[in-house]
This record gives sequence, structure tokens and C-alpha cells, in this order.
Amino acid sequence: MNVIPVKTGIQKLAPWTPVFTGVTANHFTSESAMLITIDDVLTPAELSTAKSLLARSSWSSGQQTAGPQAAQAKNNEQLAESAEHLPALRRLVLTALNRNALFFTAALPLKILPPFFNRYAGDSNYYGFHTDNAMRQMPDGSAYVRADVSATLFFSDPDEYEGGVLTIEDTFGKHGVKLKAGSMVVYPSTSIHEVAPVTSGERVACFMFMQSMVRDPGQRRMLFDMDMALLQLRETQGDSDPVVRLTGCYHNLLRRWADA
Ligand SMILES: [Fe+2]
Repeated sequence: MNVIPVKTGIQKLAPWTPVFTGVTANHFTSESAMLITIDDVLTPAELSTAKSLLARSSWSSGQQTAGPQAAQAKNNEQLAESAEHLPALRRLVLTALNRNALFFTAALPLKILPPFFNRYAGDSNYYGFHTDNAMRQMPDGSAYVRADVSATLFFSDPDEYEGGVLTIEDTFGKHGVKLKAGSMVVYPSTSIHEVAPVTSGERVACFMFMQSMVRDPGQRRMLFDMDMALLQLRETQGDSDPVVRLTGCYHNLLRRWADA
């Protein structure tokens, strides 16, 4: 499978279009980090399909995508590249991402590595503190993707397992994340993070790495904040002259900072 180029997404993140109505976004920002949770990335039908495919899948060791240091902290299971339902699951997740405007404005994705799927349960139940590898090789070895942004999409509801909190550390401390099934957290790949031991039940999720058009997390954060503020301004003021000019500033900053 090739790197997934996100060519159409940029059309959807236009900050002059209030497309985020109805999307729940919680973001916690600091000077260099930004965590964003996005509810209902998957429709109920997609979630049901994905859970059915995952329940019929065989799991392998999670060591396959960990670097030498991360491998020491990693004790979970993962779908192997040869897993029967992996292509369908990847298509399902990427289709959902492609229609999610909030995801695009938060991550500004240029390339998305094919999503991976993992399970924490039984004796394979934790992933200690680690930083994600900077460069990720495509599963077929054809190319590298620089991991700027990481994301976790949950397939298990919080009441289906004990423990398993994803903790992400930034300069303002640690943030615990445990979302309902179908929801996703997006965070900088530069952060240190862990998944605490799952002490009962099963935690199934999808994890992703992507190269952003804007490499620097601080610049991405400023663009995201500006985009969100512009949306609010448009709702209250319409396309007034100052709003049009500020929108121009957004694009001129993006023009200055983005690679494509
Ligand atoms: Fe990680």
C-alpha cells in the first residue's frame, strides 16, 4: 500500500467555512503541544462494522512496529500486515478521516501512514512511557513518513475495560485520555506518552502516524487557534472586512509555513 496523500482534505479545512458545527472539540494547548479530542469520528454503522471485523481478527505481537527502545516498554498485541481484515479496516478509518474537517485543521496532514490496530488485554496489556519514532517506514518498505502527529481512535468504550488510560505528557503536565468508542485524540508525536496496564476487559484501538504540512507543533497550534477563532468570528460578525483580512493572515501564515 502506498502512502496515503491527502490532496482533497485541504479544501475541507477552509477556515472561512463554518463546517465544524456539531463537532465536539476539546483542546488543551501549551507552548509546544496540543491535544485535541474529536467525538464521533466513526458513524455508529462504521463502528459496528469495525468492531465486527476486529472481533474476527487474529492478533500478533505489538513488537512489530516498535523501535528498540520502545520495544522494551511495549507489551500489547497488534494486527499483522497479513491480517485478513486489515485492508478493510484501514479503508474504513481513512474514509472517516477524509470527511472530518476538524481533524484536517488540527493535523494539517500531508501523508498518513496506513493505520494500525492494537489490543490491550490479558497478559499483553500496557505500553510504558515512550516517544514515537521520528521516521516511520511504509509497511512495504517503499518510503518513509516523518511522524509529526499521532492519533488514537478508540473502538472500546471506557466501561469495557479497567485501566488502559492513555497519558500524554507536555510542558504543562500529564493529560489522561480515555474516550468513548468512535472518538479520537490527536497529539504531537514529539510528546512522551503511555498506555497504562489494562487490568480487566479489552481495550482495542487504532493508532496512526502522519506527516503534517506544518512540521512545527507550535506553528500548527497557532494556526489551529486562529482557525477556531475565525470560525467564531464569522458566526458572530459574518464576513466583515476585519474577518476577511484575518482570514488572509491565516492563509499567508500557512503559505509561509506549509510544505506540500
Ligand atoms: Fe506511541
